[in-house]
Amino acid sequence: MSRKKSHFSCSQCGYESAKWLGKCPSCQEWSTFVEEQEETGLVSDVRQQFSTDARWEDLDQAETDRPQERLKTGLSELDRTLGGGLVRDSFVLLGGDPGIGKSTLLLQMVAGLLAQNPGLRILYVSGEESLEQIRLRARRLGVVGGGRVYLASETRLEHVFDTIKELEPHIVFMDSLQTFATSQNTSAPGSVTQVRDITARLMTLAKSAHISIWLVGHVTKDGTIAGPKTIEHMVDTVLSFESETGQSYRLLRSVKNRFGSTRELGVFEMHTDGLHEVANPSALFLSERTEAVSGTAVGALLEGSRPLLVELQALVIRSGFSVPRRTSVGMDSTRITLLAAILEKHLKLALGQEDLFFNVAGGFRLSEPACDLAAAAAIWSSAYERPLPPTWIFIGELGLTGEVRRVSQIEMRIDEAKRLGFEVAIVPENTPQSITCMELRRIARIEELQGLLR
Ligand code: TYD
Ligand code: MG
Repeated sequence: MSRKKSHFSCSQCGYESAKWLGKCPSCQEWSTFVEEQEETGLVSDVRQQFSTDARWEDLDQAETDRPQERLKTGLSELDRTLGGGLVRDSFVLLGGDPGIGKSTLLLQMVAGLLAQNPGLRILYVSGEESLEQIRLRARRLGVVGGGRVYLASETRLEHVFDTIKELEPHIVFMDSLQTFATSQNTSAPGSVTQVRDITARLMTLAKSAHISIWLVGHVTKDGTIAGPKTIEHMVDTVLSFESETGQSYRLLRSVKNRFGSTRELGVFEMHTDGLHEVANPSALFLSERTEAVSGTAVGALLEGSRPLLVELQALVIRSGFSVPRRTSVGMDSTRITLLAAILEKHLKLALGQEDLFFNVAGGFRLSEPACDLAAAAAIWSSAYERPLPPTWIFIGELGLTGEVRRVSQIEMRIDEAKRLGFEVAIVPENTPQSITCMELRRIARIEELQGLLR
């Protein structure tokens, strides 16, 4: 039996309230509350629709008998982000701005999965496009079904369930969450309760019927549509597809992963014939570097297990304000203020009257301090208007007293630099002597940097 009741919920974060509120007490957004009809006790019947396995098992038995099975997706950048392939029966949410390439990625994944896994059956359900549109796009991307791929254009969740029961696919793609609706909920598609009900029922389906489900979720700033934020706890893995405005490359990040690290990064580039994998992202991100300009330096960061070279840019100019500005994109502004203070104190760099702007090219966010030395070099270079040697790379963390501190996995970072043609690495003094692939200039303190650069 289900009971109808009405309540209000925030379309931004999902906060619920019995009465309408002007401002959400949880996310502090204004005018985001909408009325929702909710029926309780909906989710449980999903389990009955599908044959379920035993409800318990012996712990030791389970461990020895069933190793976690992973399917190769045919896209190694995607496999990497997932932590080594797609785990069977997992429930994955793929989020990203509209138009970023989520549907394209899924269709290319269909092709890859088919090629890698004989006997696999896949259902692709789109609530956004007609069968004709999906078919055309699939053809354009060169996806050949071989009788193992089924397309459906459908928005009713119950119909999707019927289709799944009939076709018994191993993997189901649902594109996108905001377009589906279950008849057991009278709210509009995309509303918080719809999105939650649908996700909960799909989760039960994935686990009880042994199906991998991929759910696409548009991330939107429009307050009327529930963002995927409200359902992240229900899925095994959350992937986020991102890009810098105006750039053709796409970064696939794992935001949550029950089966692997969340630090792995996949890199793709959007072309007219679909997404291309970028096996060598450092080359891509350094490709726009022009030679011999002041204010830039190259550093090496680590994204999961992958070293990545990035260009750091600094602009130091005379300030028109009594308090000079410190503005940074891609690195914490506090860290930049801190680095500026270290340079001022230990290199006697006069930055007190200067505005300092800082940018990490390629849209990266630096979350580790290993690029401190490169950032300091870029600031120094801009302040003195002296270009740095283009074949030099800077690796090291800076301490407040001006000491250059060691960074983790330095060998991997230097190897990557070597591969990309860098010739000299400025590194912390205690860098292992065993690293010989490149000329290393070891420094213990920031003052020594000045000596090297002059
Ligand atoms: P799409 O996968 O539809 O994005 P999403 O599902 O995230 O909304 O990708 C849409 C954009 O990608 C669109 O602007 C066109 C572009 N695109 C290409 O440049 N090349 C291609 O081969 C394809 C399929 C799309
Ligand atoms: Mg799409």
